[in-house]
Formats: sequence, structure tokens, C-alpha cells
Amino acid sequence: MGRLRGASVLVTGASSGIGEATALAFARQGSRLALCARRLDRLQSVAERCRAAGAVAVTVRRADVSRRAEAQAFVAGALGDFERVDVLVNNAGFGWRGPLQDMPPEQVEALFATNVQGLIWTTQAVLPGMLELNSGVIVNVASVVGFRAAPYSAVYSASKHAVVGLSHALRGELSGSGVKVTVVYPGTTDTEFFENETPGPLMQPASAVAAAIVRAARRPRRDVIMVPYRLAHLAEPLFGGLMDHLIGGFRRRQGRSARP
Ligand SMILES: NC(=O)c1ccc[n+]([C@@H]2O[C@H](COP(=O)([O-])OP(=O)(O)OC[C@H]3O[C@@H](n4cnc5c(N)ncnc54)[C@H](OP(=O)(O)O)[C@@H]3O)[C@@H](O)[C@H]2O)c1
Repeated sequence: MGRLRGASVLVTGASSGIGEATALAFARQGSRLALCARRLDRLQSVAERCRAAGAVAVTVRRADVSRRAEAQAFVAGALGDFERVDVLVNNAGFGWRGPLQDMPPEQVEALFATNVQGLIWTTQAVLPGMLELNSGVIVNVASVVGFRAAPYSAVYSASKHAVVGLSHALRGELSGSGVKVTVVYPGTTDTEFFENETPGPLMQPASAVAAAIVRAARRPRRDVIMVPYRLAHLAEPLFGGLMDHLIGGFRRRQGRSARP
């Protein structure tokens, strides 16, 4: 991808947290931005700040990516405005924490519809144009629970495993083309994701993950793990079982909380 100045960049879930920070990070590169989320007022305020930060153009659209027609309309609108998509950042998502047997079915459906299907709808919508130009980068925001599932986040972990699996399969399908797929796996990040929970002691700022997403878009050679503690991911294969035990105990003490 190389140069991001003037590139047409789409970010889903740009109204807060990692998506907002990502929009601002691309704005500082002088990119053209198309942003979506469900809270239009928040998107408009992010767009103002992106313009001030150096974005060449910014468009916003209210879209619930779990609804196929809205996800497709977001991409179609961006194509209408910018004629091409250089970078798609599939970031929109949410979590739910608690014992699996307690998770309401409508939350299960909404979580998969947003975190997995939403990403599929936007990706399918950008691919024909990217393949025609033989150029483009798709950055999928997974999570560290996409390679090591966390107890009391079973459905969320499963959704992020699905994101990783889909990304790697698609990367294979696109090998030999100029269209690249990369995955960013954030660890605990200070955003509204933890709105109803006590934040853990180790949090990284959303801007750190945003910087990793911009780097991944510029050089989509490999996946990027972004954790707030140095080298922690190297210990993961060795201490996975211990982590399950510790995290399980910590969450049991914390009790349950849910975010729609
Ligand atoms: N925070 C962490 O520790 C962490 C760690 C690993 C991975 N992640 C991942 O990072 C991504 C961003 O999360 P965050 O931490 O930045 O949380 P956040 O501040 O809650 O941001 C989530 C964003 O997704 C949007 N969104 C949610 N459902 C949507 C839908 N159906 N359609 C369109 N937009 C939707 C929200 O906007 P609206 O509500 O306005 O629609 C918001 O802009 C998620 O995929 C999350 O799984 C977060």
C-alpha cells in the first residue's frame, strides 16, 4: 500500500474507541475517510476532528453493519464518493461477558451478526472493486482472544476466532493478487468496550492500536499482535492453561457484566 496520502480508507465502528483513534490516525496521514457506526452524532464529531487533523475528505454514514443492506450501502456510498477503496478497516464489534449458559440468545445472534457477518458484508462489498484494480488492503480487527479463547467470553472468543479463520482463508484466496488481508489482535485497550466493567490493571491506549492498524495498512505483510505488556504473547503458548485459570478466577470475583 505504501503511501496513505489521498488513499480512500473505510473504517467501521468509528464513533468511539479503536475505530475513532484509527480514523484520526489515517486523517493525520492525509487520507480520504468514509466512517460508519450507529451513533451519527458521535461520528460527526469524529469527522470534524479528522478534518482538523488533516484528512483530505471525510464522509460519515449511519450504518449497523449487522444489517447486510446497511453495510453494503456504506461501501456503495464510499465508492460513490471516492470511486475506489484502498483500505477497509473492519473494526465494528462488541463483547459480552458471563457464563455461556446465561447469554441471552438475542445477544448471541447480535454478537455474531456484528463481529463476524458485518465484516463479511463489508468485505464482500469492497472485493470486486479491489480485485479490478488489483490493489487494496483489508485490515480485520480481531483480539488476543482470537488465538487464545477466554473463559466467560465464549461467544466473543468464538467470534474473534471466526474473524481470524476467515481472514486467513481469504488471504489464501487472494494470494497472487494485489489485494492483501491482515489481522490486528489487540489486547486490553482503554475504550468504551469496558464501559460496564472494572478496567484491568494493564490497558493500552486506543491510539497505540490505531498506529498498529495504520502500519498494517501500509505494509500488510503479517498479522500484528498489540498487547499492553511486552512479549506477553510469547508466553501465551506455554502459559495458556494457567492464564485460563487466572482469568477465570479474576472474572468470577468480578462478577458478570454485559454490554449490548
Ligand atoms: N477494547 C479492547 O480491549 C479490545 C481488545 C481486542 C479487540 N477489540 C475489538 O476492537 C473493536 C473496537 O472496539 P473498541 O474497544 O474500540 O470498543 P468501543 O469503544 O465500544 O467501539 C466499538 C465501535 O463499534 C461500533 N459498533 C458496534 N456495533 C456496531 C454495529 N452493529 N454496526 C456498526 N458499528 C457498530 C460502535 O459504534 P456505535 O455504537 O455508534 O454503532 C463503536 O464505534 C471491536 O471489534 C472489539 O472487539 C477491543
